[in-house]
Amino acid sequence: MNFQIKSFLEYQETYQKSVTNPEAFWAEMAENFVWRKKWDEVLNWNFKDPKIEWFSGAKLNITENCIDRHLADKGDQPAIIWEANDPQEHHRILTYKQLHQKVNLFANVLKNNGVKKGDRICIYMPMVPELAIAVLACARIGAIHSVVFGGFSAQSIADRIKDAQCEMVITADGGFRGAKDIPLKNVIDDALVQCPSVKTVIVLTRTRTPISMIKGRDKWWEDEIKKVETLGLIDCEPEIMDAEDKLFILYTSGSTGKPKGVVHTCAGYMVYAAYTFQNVFQYQPKDIYFCTADIGWITGHSYIIYGPLAQGATTLMFEGVPTYPDAGRFWDIVDKFKVNILYTAPTAIRSLMQSGLDYVKDKDLSSLKVLGSVGEPINEEAWNWYNENIGKGNCPIVDTWWQTETGGIMISPIAGVTKTKPCYATLPLPGIQIELVDEKGQVIEGNDVSGNLCIKFPWPGMIRTTYGDHERCLQTYFATYENKYFTGDGCLRDEDGYYRITGRVDDVINVSGHRIGTAEVENAINMFTDVVESAVVGYPHEIKGQGIYAYVILNDHTEDEELTRKDIAMTVSRIIGAIARPDKIQFVKGLPKTRSGKIMRRILRKIAEGDVSNLGDTSTLLDPSVVEQIKNEKL
Ligand code: WTA
Repeated sequence: MNFQIKSFLEYQETYQKSVTNPEAFWAEMAENFVWRKKWDEVLNWNFKDPKIEWFSGAKLNITENCIDRHLADKGDQPAIIWEANDPQEHHRILTYKQLHQKVNLFANVLKNNGVKKGDRICIYMPMVPELAIAVLACARIGAIHSVVFGGFSAQSIADRIKDAQCEMVITADGGFRGAKDIPLKNVIDDALVQCPSVKTVIVLTRTRTPISMIKGRDKWWEDEIKKVETLGLIDCEPEIMDAEDKLFILYTSGSTGKPKGVVHTCAGYMVYAAYTFQNVFQYQPKDIYFCTADIGWITGHSYIIYGPLAQGATTLMFEGVPTYPDAGRFWDIVDKFKVNILYTAPTAIRSLMQSGLDYVKDKDLSSLKVLGSVGEPINEEAWNWYNENIGKGNCPIVDTWWQTETGGIMISPIAGVTKTKPCYATLPLPGIQIELVDEKGQVIEGNDVSGNLCIKFPWPGMIRTTYGDHERCLQTYFATYENKYFTGDGCLRDEDGYYRITGRVDDVINVSGHRIGTAEVENAINMFTDVVESAVVGYPHEIKGQGIYAYVILNDHTEDEELTRKDIAMTVSRIIGAIARPDKIQFVKGLPKTRSGKIMRRILRKIAEGDVSNLGDTSTLLDPSVVEQIKNEKL
């Protein structure tokens, strides 16, 4: 079996082999990596605990696979190309050799500050190469990184730091995002008031806004680098890790109020991220690959850093936003660096589509070969626009479905190999055994059906546990349906056997490709002094995919509804971050509750969607009249 699939026939054969003998298949794929010691056993699993072990007994370091092994033949090839937020600022290129030097030096900084294998490190940084360097330096010495997206509030960071008991924070004075400066260090200072576990904060200079530097705790990145250079600590031997040692924690939202720390481990994650990167995008040597995600999300972990670097690719990272200084920014970058593969999100496509073709028309996009989409369902209009105006009808679009928990892409076309269909993630990748089930867990066979999306067999990149609370992992993913991993997504299988993801079936909203738990937003709204109760649902939003609609009961009638709305939105920004601010806040007198006190979200969702013709059975409601009021006063 080749590592890279080249034809549809080969895909079919590979898929067959991967499900009839998954262990032989993945063992063969794992031969393409550098191991300090090979595995004793390929797979050991049960979904009851759950216990998932891939390649146990193997020893490795992921950075040897992502950096060292490329030095001999690709040492001078760009590993990371970085484009700044401001187009006037010069871009930076790090070759594999330079990346090696920088990761080693910073790994020594970590060690010099007492960091050991297994320690947790929170990284809260702007999209600069040092973020990738920090991540890789952690992996080099076996420290577990927990990257927190730069848009989260101090409270959210504190919750994540406390949950993982992080010893160190790596941050920057600030970050540039479009026309804004984000005061990252200030936010960290606010967070750390609650976090006694953090002994050291390393601060990179980026915006040079005034910040506080606390003696004994806060250290400048640049000074620390000088220190290890002076000590002659240049190279850093990689820590030899067990296959199932933890590589990182990444927090994500679910149905409950508290984000969970999804844990990925070294070997399986590496094999899966690299395998899927190579196959889905059909990366060829010297291609320039540009993923527009932020490293604060799983897409950045797997498809800016680990997947591409494991394959010796050139990965382009961008600090800014698609619309700054204007809506042509992505196309300028494609033109400037002759990007071959572009991986972005439907929300970005929709917003650029709305800005019009003037921003596209004079840009040379002829280098593009493959286009990707991730994070949320892509609507047909956006798919067609992307295909016609960016791909010029010549670039396959890979609509990649996956999750933080899956570690890598699960259902997706293989570029140029799988026939695409607008809005369809198409077919499962090798090793991925899909099942659609009904509410009772009955497997739905045949084509032209829909149900809840489950996976019935392990794959190397899957979640191992939720940090510090294994029971939660079991309850969230493996308890709904016996012996299956449940994704939380609804899905249909059409007459050709192609898969289309229809959206979440749980209480998670997908806003601009960011997962937000309704319970989290409700908790934040309820912290506002005058709020008695609230209920939050998603509704279709032209650009964001879904918007956040909040129904709020106030203590007292408010004099100024607009001002109160703003106060509530500000409260949510403080508690979670601006990404969770409600788009609409409707003040209501009551919420539709059953006699047992459960909020009937189905009804609220329908009203928010503007579909009030058939609200279904409301006879079980404690007070059906509240529905009328809510309907009449809909925003
Ligand atoms: C949604 C992002 C439709 C889905 C990699 C999933 C998608 C959630 C797609 C995971 C897609 C992701 N089509 N929906 N191509 N990709 N989703 O953890 O609801 O941030 O469960 O991982 O995004 O979001 P997460």
